[in-house]
Amino acid sequence: MTVDSLYEKFNLIQFGEMPEDHLRSVCEHYFPIINEIEELKKQTNTIVLAHSYVKSNIIYAVADYVGDSYELSKNARDADEKRIIFAAVRFMGETAKILSPDKEVLIPGTDPACSLADSITAEDVRKLKKENPGYAFLCYINTNADVKAECDACVTSSNVYNIVEKYPSDKIYFVPDKLMGQNVIDEMEKRGVKKDIKVWNGTCYVHEEYDASLVDALREKYKDLSVLVHPECGPSVLEKADFVGSTSQLYNFVKHQKDGHFLMLTECGLISRIEAELPGRKFVGSCSLCKYMKSNTLEGILRVLKNPTPSDYVQIDIGVQDRALKCINRMFEIAES
Ligand code: 13P
Ligand code: SF4
Repeated sequence: MTVDSLYEKFNLIQFGEMPEDHLRSVCEHYFPIINEIEELKKQTNTIVLAHSYVKSNIIYAVADYVGDSYELSKNARDADEKRIIFAAVRFMGETAKILSPDKEVLIPGTDPACSLADSITAEDVRKLKKENPGYAFLCYINTNADVKAECDACVTSSNVYNIVEKYPSDKIYFVPDKLMGQNVIDEMEKRGVKKDIKVWNGTCYVHEEYDASLVDALREKYKDLSVLVHPECGPSVLEKADFVGSTSQLYNFVKHQKDGHFLMLTECGLISRIEAELPGRKFVGSCSLCKYMKSNTLEGILRVLKNPTPSDYVQIDIGVQDRALKCINRMFEIAES
């Protein structure tokens, strides 16, 4: 990695980042920080995991793995290193710690929340379980550890439909995403799967904003448009999609299709990543930013490497650890069966 190669990558990005962040002088400014991070990673046996939504300078300068929440949880679980810096949001760091309790997991973001994870508490789930006997509780991975501990299995955006279909219960309570939950209900109907599915009322504040009228307007303008949608968007948007999938599944779709225009309805970071890694793809429309993912910075990563404070470490309550692990492992079992 050199200042020139970083600058060349940034030059390809038009969506989702400020052009001034990609000036050559900014790359030069960050270079000593990047070198210090790389040196400290080696000295402290640390890897950096980064979600596709975080800033490009993290992805291209210091990340060892970049992916969606399913892939990153497996990278965390399988890593040989003793320390993980998770540039994403808190629930992803928690998942890494639950899967690898012997590793240290550090979160560098200054505001690593998630509107979905924060929409439901463990107490809410306990109450729902009492009110809905006989229902299996499936949770999206975007939940806090104590919520996972109350649930039977978790899912990610890459496997939600298959897990709901395969889960051995015809009564399912899905938490916390009401839009994804409605999309699950619609997909089960399409697949001819008869299940009684109830949903909680959380939403992702980024994905709930996308509107189906944007799709109509752009289809009118670009006859070769492919509409790619994350399943946290609402059903009226999914109805118009050519492809629905997790961030990595959306990435792979574009990887295998060079021609035409793309409207990608998810956080801007994924579009930036595709522009940098799969040059020539033509994106249209707009995208939104997740302030929580964007609270990760190179400075924050350096800080937790150099001077971590107790609150930078993910800690999981002992009473929660085993039950949350069971919930996550059930997902791996079903997803990989
Ligand atoms: P993915 O698992 O698709 O990366 O989704 C995570 C997320 O938080 C999307 O908003
Ligand atoms: Fe949570 Fe939405 Fe941000 Fe994903 S994009 S981390 S679901 S707030």
